[in-house]
Amino acid sequence: MKTTNSINTLFFALLCLTASTVFVSTHVQAAKWDASMTPAEVEATLDKKFAEGKYSPKGADSCLMCHKKSEKVMDLFKGVHGAIDSSKSPMAGLQCEACHGPLGSHNRGGKEPMITFGPNSTLAADKQNSVCMSCHQDDKRVAWDSSHHANADVACASCHSVHAAHDPVLSKQTEMEVCTSCHTKQKADMNKRSSHPMKWNQMTCSDCHNPHGSLSDSDLVQPTVNETCYSCHAEKRGPKLWEHAPVTENCVNCHNPHGSVNDAMLKTRAPQLCQQCHASDNHTSNAYLGNTDMGSTVNGNTFTGGRSCLNCHTQIHGSNHPSGKLLQR
Ligand code: HEC
Ligand code: HEC
Ligand code: HEC
Ligand code: HEC
Ligand code: HEC
Ligand code: HEC
Ligand code: HEC
Ligand code: HEC
Ligand code: HEC
Ligand code: HEC
Repeated sequence: MKTTNSINTLFFALLCLTASTVFVSTHVQAAKWDASMTPAEVEATLDKKFAEGKYSPKGADSCLMCHKKSEKVMDLFKGVHGAIDSSKSPMAGLQCEACHGPLGSHNRGGKEPMITFGPNSTLAADKQNSVCMSCHQDDKRVAWDSSHHANADVACASCHSVHAAHDPVLSKQTEMEVCTSCHTKQKADMNKRSSHPMKWNQMTCSDCHNPHGSLSDSDLVQPTVNETCYSCHAEKRGPKLWEHAPVTENCVNCHNPHGSVNDAMLKTRAPQLCQQCHASDNHTSNAYLGNTDMGSTVNGNTFTGGRSCLNCHTQIHGSNHPSGKLLQR
């Protein structure tokens, strides 16, 4: 956390006020304020503006005097935050200033910045986010403060666009573009030969992850990796008569959920995959090569040929066969 809690609380408290303390500003054309302010100076100025609480008497109308030429600004009114028919909408309260903070003398050529958002803002992410959280602190974001994104100072507005008819991160068709703009390793993995159907947007990152944080280590939608996988691969859930310990323990012992060059998204191929945990030096497999049950249909070296260890140990996720102890049936 970069900033003190007291400052965030101040933001929070003041944002919850209505525009009762107003300041009758004279609308003269603003020159660009001093863009050379340091981030610390910007923050100090914003704090002072909040303390003074000089909100515009005309709300959005005064902002639009100068900002209506920007298409991006006007796109706010195509989205939920510009809705005028909802009592919870910013438009029913402080309007633009509900997010950007009080006008103060921003419009008078003074050196007064407004709160800005996103990766290019000079304002610390947790401070920007406290503005959003003043309305979005709910059960969907209870774990936000301990999420990987909050801890890495990722701003809400680095994923979300509010000045837009449709926020790209909320659509299955465009969510992944947003995520992979930062997560390049996962982007590479999902385009490998074997992967979840993410390249066609049939599945998205948020099928497995809650970007707002969760109780799991990797911000998964379920408390554990396996619970997350079982939500779609229910047939892999036990209990089974004969379980394979690494499977019940954690699916990612063997699979990379984002994709792999190996079949079935395996991290490595058999036999190496198996040999990480099983020494096969003393394995008596050769004695079984001629056995009709096990090796007869397999040509060549059954250990390295074809499906390697899986030539015989086919029930790698566990077996329900009474004599399936060795995961072979
Ligand atoms: C008198 C004209 C004027 C008024 C009124 C005005 N602004 Fe501005 N605003 C400006 C100018 C000029 C800039 C600097 C633009 C730039 O740097 O491209 C600016 C910049 C901003 C920025 C920063 C944009 C960025 O990318 O850094 C925000 C946010 C903003 N204004 C919000 C508001 C809001 C909200 C209101 C109403 C409460 C408002 N403005 C009223 C003239 C005005
Ligand atoms: C719900 C919060 C919210 C409200 C309400 C809001 N903004 Fe914004 N504003 C943002 C965020 C977040 C950004 C960063 C870009 C984005 O996410 O779309 C932004 C960006 C801007 C910018 C910079 C645009 C650019 O070209 O980069 C200006 C100027 C601005 N807002 C003015 C306004 C004005 C004027 C209003 C009222 C009509 C308003 N905003 C209402 C959150 C808000
Ligand atoms: C003044 C209150 C307020 C503030 C501040 C606010 N929002 Fe919202 N937001 C709303 C309301 C109202 C909705 C409509 C849905 C609802 O009722 O929850 C909404 C909806 C959303 C949605 C869902 C959009 C959709 O199309 O379904 C997102 C995402 C969101 N807000 C992000 C943000 C972000 C990011 C910020 C900070 C830049 C922010 N909000 C600031 C009130 C607010
Ligand atoms: C890493 C990207 C990312 C960040 C950062 C992020 N979100 Fe989201 N947000 C999403 C995605 C993806 C969805 C849609 C899927 C879902 O609901 O999990 C979403 C959905 C939402 C929604 C609408 C559905 C709901 O959960 O209520 C709101 C509101 C919202 N986010 C607010 C916020 C706020 C506030 C912050 C900052 C505290 C934030 N988000 C930070 C990616 C992000
Ligand atoms: C603005 C850049 C950015 C965007 C966009 C973004 N992330 Fe992240 N994400 C990060 C950073 C930084 C971290 C923390 C460092 C890390 O673990 O890579 C992180 C961490 C994570 C983690 C936890 C990693 C762990 O260590 O366990 C997950 C899961 C994640 N992001 C998923 C998503 C998803 C899903 C989306 C899209 C909805 C998304 N991210 C969008 C920057 C981003
Ligand atoms: C099928 C479920 C699933 C999907 C879909 C998924 N992930 Fe993951 N992700 C996981 C699991 C499980 C882990 C934990 C891996 C571990 O513990 O080693 C993880 C871990 C991560 C991590 C932490 C670093 C790492 O690789 O261990 C990041 C970052 C991440 N995911 C981002 C993403 C992004 C971005 C997307 C979308 C392109 C995505 N994930 C899609 C299941 C998934
Ligand atoms: C949201 C649903 C969903 C979740 C959650 C999910 N999967 Fe999948 N999985 C799928 C779909 C869909 C396919 C593709 C099935 C097909 O193509 O027939 C698939 C395929 C697979 C495959 C086979 C890939 C191949 O190339 O043959 C493996 C392995 C796999 N998933 C492992 C996992 C693991 C491990 C997890 C947990 C980290 C997980 N899945 C979570 C939906 C899911
Ligand atoms: C000990 C390593 C290992 C672990 C742990 C493991 N798998 Fe697998 N998985 C495999 C192998 C090997 C294959 C390929 C099987 C084949 O080709 O017959 C596979 C294939 C799959 C497939 C695609 C074929 C099929 O059987 O449906 C899915 C889906 C799958 N695994 C899901 C999971 C899930 C979910 C978990 C966790 C509960 C898990 N795996 C844990 C080794 C493992
Ligand atoms: C992450 C470690 C790990 C990996 C990888 C792994 N196993 Fe196992 N496997 C175990 C453990 C632990 C047991 C349980 C041993 C016990 O109960 O004595 C086990 C049990 C078995 C058994 C039953 C033997 C018995 O004595 O009960 C077979 C057969 C087996 N594994 C084959 C495989 C094959 C084939 C692969 C590769 C596809 C594989 N294993 C990958 C850890 C692993
Ligand atoms: C030709 C069929 C065949 C192949 C290929 C095969 N196994 Fe086996 N495996 C067996 C049979 C039969 C047994 C039971 C007799 C024994 O103990 O050798 C067994 C036993 C096991 C056991 C339990 C006893 C022990 O040795 O600890 C493990 C673990 C095991 N195999 C792992 C593997 C691994 C790893 C591979 C690949 C490197 C592999 N097997 C390849 C047939 C095979």
